[in-house]
Amino acid sequence: MSSPSAALQSRIAVLGAGEVGSTIAYTLLANPIASEVLLVDPKEQVRDAQVQDLSDSTYHGNTSSLIRAGTHKEAGQCDIVVVTAGAAQKQGESRTDLVGRNQAILQSAIGDMKPFKDTTILLLIANPVDILTYFALQYSGLPAHQVLGTGTFLDSARLRGALALRAGVTASSLNAYVLGEHGDSQFPAWSCANISGIPLPKFPGLEALDQDSLADETKQKAGSIVESKGATAFGIASVTASICKSILFDERIIRAVSHYQDDLKVCLSKPLVLGRKGVVQTVDLPLDKREREALTESAKSLREIIEQAEK
Ligand code: 2OP
Repeated sequence: MSSPSAALQSRIAVLGAGEVGSTIAYTLLANPIASEVLLVDPKEQVRDAQVQDLSDSTYHGNTSSLIRAGTHKEAGQCDIVVVTAGAAQKQGESRTDLVGRNQAILQSAIGDMKPFKDTTILLLIANPVDILTYFALQYSGLPAHQVLGTGTFLDSARLRGALALRAGVTASSLNAYVLGEHGDSQFPAWSCANISGIPLPKFPGLEALDQDSLADETKQKAGSIVESKGATAFGIASVTASICKSILFDERIIRAVSHYQDDLKVCLSKPLVLGRKGVVQTVDLPLDKREREALTESAKSLREIIEQAEK
């Protein structure tokens, strides 16, 4: 297990100084887990202004982290590179509509960062995150356990939050995962969901839960936020900082994040153990027949997008 002091010698680079990247940088500074956060963006004026503003949040309180402008070359030597660079969904756009634009941005950024430090971990945020995690693995040449995406961690958090409200318990006491694509083909693993081992339908307040409508509400949440305020930022920043902490502190915590599945030949989310080397091991949930079919379907739709993008 990494000690907090070892983690606090670590450096995290955030590619992209837009709303998501700067919110992630702020969250990393406010919950200090690394000694230095580098903000990288070719739009240097925006980057430097964000760094100036973010620095003002570090001159008081308990943060021990520093923020500075960085280059792609410096990012390639960091312990974790958080990749937010790319176009964000516009109203009415799906995440997969972004693949062409963001694949090109990713390929160029990885080219500018190489050669990577042997132990550098790439954490993809930009959408479509599963597709970009797959291409980041191809482009970077890093071992698969060092390339992951936020995947359905945020969807799982959204689902747990909605269930917690109905059950009157805190979200962290719920075991519930959304699996597959961070997108339209995602699905909750209802058969494995419980509260302290009690299956959801038997828990007070959840007896009459309409699982399909809650699954849909979870899936559509980002779209409804994007429609009203243009983008999401706080939820994705929170899960990104949590993943960075789990890695740097070698927490061995289990999260549903996007990672290459050798049997499916795509990147999608299943529960994984996160530690200092990135992905320590995959946790294969005892899915029921319907959920196994949904996972296969999710992989199939991701595979089709990859094959289209590789043409
Ligand atoms: C989200 O789900 C947009 O993928 C981002 O908040």
